[in-house]
Amino acid sequence: MIHPMRPVIVAGNWKMHTTPAEAGDLARTIGARTRVDGVTRVLCPPFVCLAAVGAAVSGPEVAAPDGTGIAVGAQDVHHELAGAYTGSTSAAMLAGLATWTIVGHSERRRDDCETDEQIGRKLLAARSAGLRVILCVGEQLADRDAGRAVSVVDRQVRGCLAAADPGALGADADGPRLTIAYEPVWAIGTGRNARGADAAEMAGAIRAALASLGFANAGEDIPILYGGSVSSANIDEFMTEPSIDGALVGGASLKPDEMAGIVARAGLTAQGRAAGLASRRKRRP
Ligand code: 13P
Repeated sequence: MIHPMRPVIVAGNWKMHTTPAEAGDLARTIGARTRVDGVTRVLCPPFVCLAAVGAAVSGPEVAAPDGTGIAVGAQDVHHELAGAYTGSTSAAMLAGLATWTIVGHSERRRDDCETDEQIGRKLLAARSAGLRVILCVGEQLADRDAGRAVSVVDRQVRGCLAAADPGALGADADGPRLTIAYEPVWAIGTGRNARGADAAEMAGAIRAALASLGFANAGEDIPILYGGSVSSANIDEFMTEPSIDGALVGGASLKPDEMAGIVARAGLTAQGRAAGLASRRKRRP
């Protein structure tokens, strides 16, 4: 049987940057400059910019030639569906403004003391509102130096997904319900990216964890992104690894030139995968 092709995804995490007016302009510019077939583009602005970005990417001028538009994602979601949580945002509030959300970003793990168990609840809350989830995992530098990188990430994956039903997290016709972003903490915002081979090794470990949690096809259906100082100059290092399906981009996602370069390179991988799939189909008896 031909394995269904995983999508190539470039997601931009704008973190705490842009006002609503700036975000709309930036999304429009990035959208017009990243019209590449076969790449799922997701822009994740701050909550207060979601509506502006949604409006900016709603027109045909940001669609790729194959008609694919840009998806809008949130950067976080509360683990409860409603309640006395001043300043927080629930999954139901996001539905209509976003179709994706990040959960478990290391900056929230660090600044808001988020635990794997809580991140798992965020994931379930997001799914209950139909949001596609990018779950972030990644080790600290001390973990890598001590040879613990794989065991730390393995524990995060298992902890975040302990309460999830693997059968409900596969892709639907419009895309993946769950994507995992491997973001080594020491590579975020430092200009020091991981090597492609390290990211690929970690993708193997993540899929092994998914397989043992009961995900179908040994976890091969779940897209895995790399994040951490991704730029147009180093994206190829990751896109040439067959186990890596794209990038979660931070600082460079605020720069239209960089996003244009990153999505163009990712498009080459997407087109290569599509050609490979087509030729495998042709060879089938
Ligand atoms: P940088 O690309 O700025 O290193 O940030 C990565 C990140 O945290 C994306 O979520």
